[in-house]
Amino acid sequence: MQTRTLEQTLERLLSGSRGILAADESQRTIEKRFRAVQLASTEETRREYREMLFSTPGLGEYISGVILFEETLLQNASSGKSMPQLLEEQGMLPGIKVDKGTSDLPGFPGETFTQGLDGLRERLISYHEAGARFAKWRGVLRIGPGQPSDTAIVENARSLALYAALCQEQGIVPIVEPEVLMEGAHDLQACTQATERTLLGVFHALHQQRVSLECMLLKPNMVVPGLESREQASAVQVAEATLRVLRHSVPSAVPGIFFLSGGQGAEEATERLNAINELARHAPWVLSSSFSRALQSPVLTHWAGRPENREEAQQILLARARLNSLARLGQYDP
Ligand code: 13P
Repeated sequence: MQTRTLEQTLERLLSGSRGILAADESQRTIEKRFRAVQLASTEETRREYREMLFSTPGLGEYISGVILFEETLLQNASSGKSMPQLLEEQGMLPGIKVDKGTSDLPGFPGETFTQGLDGLRERLISYHEAGARFAKWRGVLRIGPGQPSDTAIVENARSLALYAALCQEQGIVPIVEPEVLMEGAHDLQACTQATERTLLGVFHALHQQRVSLECMLLKPNMVVPGLESREQASAVQVAEATLRVLRHSVPSAVPGIFFLSGGQGAEEATERLNAINELARHAPWVLSSSFSRALQSPVLTHWAGRPENREEAQQILLARARLNSLARLGQYDP
């Protein structure tokens, strides 16, 4: 394992009070996001959009790394520079989503496992050559009657662990992302239990696969009531539940926890991250963000493919990234 290389990447990702921007939407997902603003998804519109995001002046002050989809990692910006170069110029590290999405888990209707282990070692070598220094793999767990099943937890944990070990072997820092979805009418307690069972399964598998906990990052969901739940949870309640689960299940050797936003509103996600950091004064990990929707939604809505909106859209991105940076310090004041 290339420990020194991994540590150097981690130092950069964790430096400053910064977050990670997830801009790694698959072709299907970006098409859905673009359709919502009446924009066709083509190689050109995807390039324009992501180039607009990455060239936001000053973004590197609040964002330490950006997770890319393969197409973007290998794409050039309009200036002819590669996208990874564009990021590096602003002090942001390029990362790469390496999973290939989910597939139905046989025998367990509604549950999934994640694809992409075949040929992963070879892909990691070529991604590293293209400039990627960290990676992401997402396992998805659903809350419902009998869900997540033990089988789904074990299967998703095993693939996350094998992915993480392969990344470390190739000098790439793995972000381990087990996402317990917000979909459903379940309460905070159900999300607490599901998230804790999931994280315990994930860390068991990471241990069995001899993954270095010091050389990885965790990207979990916050513990929240389901989207269709009538229960309202305050930011403090979410923060308390989230920290309780993390303290029960995440070893202190893990240097950083970067939350996904998972369908929370942009302000809501920032407020909750802030509450987590206010309550976590003595937590062993850095607690930051790796949002996609909670960073990008207001930006994409404003830009909507119109060149005249470019600068204002960048200002919106910068403002949100700055607020999340304050929330990482527990200093956000809505
Ligand atoms: P959201 O913040 O929109 O949940 O996306 C994070 C992510 O990277 C999903 O894999």
